[in-house]
Amino acid sequence: RNLLHKQLTGERIIVVSNREPYIHTRKGERIEVHRPASGLVTAVEPVMRACSGTWIAHGSGTADMEASDRHDRVPVPPEHPEYTLRRIWLSKEEENGYYYGFANEGLWPLCHIAHVRPIFRSSDWEKYQAINQRFADAVVKEADSDNPVVLVQDYHFALLPGMIRAALPKATIITFWHIPWPNPESFGICPWREELLKGMLGSTILGFHTPFHRKNFLETVDRYLETRIEHESSTVTHNGKLTMVESYPISIQWPPPWQERQPTVEECRAGLRQELGAAPDHKVGIGVDRLDYTKGILERFRAVEKLLELHPELQGNFTFVQIAAPSRSALDDYQAFDAQVHNLALRINQRYSSGSWKPIVLKAEHHEPEVVNRYYRGADVCVVTSLHDGMNLVAKEFVASRDDEQGGLVLSQFTGAAHELHEALVVNPYHIEQTAQALHRAVNMPDLEQRERMRSMRALVRDFNVYRWAGRMLLDAARVRQREKLSARIR
Ligand code: F6P
Repeated sequence: RNLLHKQLTGERIIVVSNREPYIHTRKGERIEVHRPASGLVTAVEPVMRACSGTWIAHGSGTADMEASDRHDRVPVPPEHPEYTLRRIWLSKEEENGYYYGFANEGLWPLCHIAHVRPIFRSSDWEKYQAINQRFADAVVKEADSDNPVVLVQDYHFALLPGMIRAALPKATIITFWHIPWPNPESFGICPWREELLKGMLGSTILGFHTPFHRKNFLETVDRYLETRIEHESSTVTHNGKLTMVESYPISIQWPPPWQERQPTVEECRAGLRQELGAAPDHKVGIGVDRLDYTKGILERFRAVEKLLELHPELQGNFTFVQIAAPSRSALDDYQAFDAQVHNLALRINQRYSSGSWKPIVLKAEHHEPEVVNRYYRGADVCVVTSLHDGMNLVAKEFVASRDDEQGGLVLSQFTGAAHELHEALVVNPYHIEQTAQALHRAVNMPDLEQRERMRSMRALVRDFNVYRWAGRMLLDAARVRQREKLSARIR
């Protein structure tokens, strides 16, 4: 946090993301506020609170409200305002083309290699361009100087850096790509690959979670654009403009926000077992995801089934609780996935249930972060089985929640988090038996081993927290600016 302040003395930052950090919805006469399930929001919110400024996002919750009710500009967080949330409203048609269409039926499967064929429609691409321009105009309007610091978030806005650069050539634009970047062959199937790459190279800094995604991006640029790439300094020069391309593994706030006011681990354990109608020594596994086909939820359920098959002593004595926040439900692939998840849970439960016990408890609804935190603290093991994931902050949140230094983490090797949390039980989620064995190992792990592993993972999340993530990008941006100034003087 201090490093951030040092980097930003006197600067107001502008963050741009599709997802807004607070969603206001009307319930009868009352307006309710909730926080969406989004790794991006989890990470960027504390940075914004530390820096203050303006967060520009797509207004989602209040779309059905009267215009006068919509709160275009709200001070947030509601209980103790620290920055301004500026909402951009999209029509149904714009949202369908830009968000559901190009971003989530095109770029999302394109970058995740999750065996869902990307769909690219020219009409979606037109909306994507138009909405990127709308957000660029909003940034220009919000900027109070000709060199603002703008943090652009994610694949919804690949064109935004180039558009901001055209209007504000001196801006410091830090773009972070929250999802994986595939290899050049995979990315190359996108009909507008050159336009996307050029847009991204409007950034001062372009960040990815892992060195592997950074390398894939550089190779993609090398394949499809005329640029100069300096591998040693990890920079790309395109049309005379220099962009530093680096890996910055994202993280979470430390100390965790609810540290002071959360129930004890004992209370969380007891509460969870009471909710399940289970004995105090009942073993509980937890999964927390958006209902998304990249998260490996089906593979995870199959691993639970295999666990019960291989270790019958756990039948009646182990429950897997899956929190699954509904997501992008307007899309066919997501509706189909939702049905598959429910059907598989039903089939496994029918196979093993006895009396009031069932092995899988599927809670397919939104849960506020503080409630999720209580599940983390009450569980014996947290399971993350993404088939491909930029970072996965659930793994880090679980670790941060366990100040008792207990609990096991089963973690997919295909997450960015697996490159950092080496003491997790790392698995290939496609290997069902291996995941089942890791689950078995986690629920039977001696306390001492749990402590050693958890202590080391907690030290990593503490030391490499989200303030460090943002601070490093700002520091590198300052270096690039300095370098540009010097080379302009020499010229
Ligand atoms: O980090 C990936 C991401 O797609 C974010 O951009 C997004 O906020 C989050 O996952 C949740 O998805 P959505 O905003 O589409 O609900």
